[in-house]
Amino acid sequence: MIDQLIFIALPYTAAALAIVMTIVRWRTNRFTYSSLSSQLLENSILSWASVAWHYAILIILLAHLGATVFPGLWARLLGGRFQLYVLEITGLGLALLSIVGLGLFIWRRLALRRIRAVTTRGDWLLLIALLAQVILGFLVASLYRWGATWYLHTATPWLTSLVRLDPNITALVPLPWLIKLHFAGGFVILALLPFTRLIHAITLPIGYLWRPYQIVVWNRRQTRANRG
Ligand code: HEM
Repeated sequence: MIDQLIFIALPYTAAALAIVMTIVRWRTNRFTYSSLSSQLLENSILSWASVAWHYAILIILLAHLGATVFPGLWARLLGGRFQLYVLEITGLGLALLSIVGLGLFIWRRLALRRIRAVTTRGDWLLLIALLAQVILGFLVASLYRWGATWYLHTATPWLTSLVRLDPNITALVPLPWLIKLHFAGGFVILALLPFTRLIHAITLPIGYLWRPYQIVVWNRRQTRANRG
């Protein structure tokens, strides 16, 4: 029963919430579709943390997606023992990098009073949920080896069955609770998407590629020095 709740009810509820509430937020409060910046208040820790976190998590999530959408290709990629080692070690390295990045985000908000003042409860909830999820991912990858392979026989059939609207959780039932927690955590984060600053993840600024030039005009009297 608990497995049905976690692996069927939670994913569909999270997906429905994410889709409906994202549209509602777009229609009612479009200008909040970005991550409220605290960059002007502190920039040096933010830029290091941001690079570490975004690159690491993007690659990790692309690998999750690749193994789900192209399981055949993924299995061929893992063909030999050497490839498997490289992939697992890279995954663990990236997981550590993402934990450091997120840890810095959190430390910066805790330690600097002016940043703490602009941090909402939603921000804290999101940061803690993400940290728990990446630490769980790291633990799963280190304690239950060769996750890149067994992902194909557990997560892939489950996730694709959810998309086909014909949920099949047989492969998940016998899994250890740590792995179950990580799988469920993915959908808890999906549910948080429309309610937190995570919404910025779906607004890639690709419009910049074709938007017209921006002409910046100084709106102040030119002094003799900057004129000549
Ligand atoms: C339902 C969704 C998800 C499933 C089924 C899933 C499954 C897995 C599995 C099986 C591993 C072990 C891979 C290995 O040993 O090589 C793993 C690792 C990891 N996961 Fe997830 N995950 C999900 C969502 C997420 C999300 C949303 C995040 C981050 C926000 C995340 C972050 C990580 C990290 C940091 C690792 C360790 C690095 C790695 O080995 O790739 N996962 N995940």
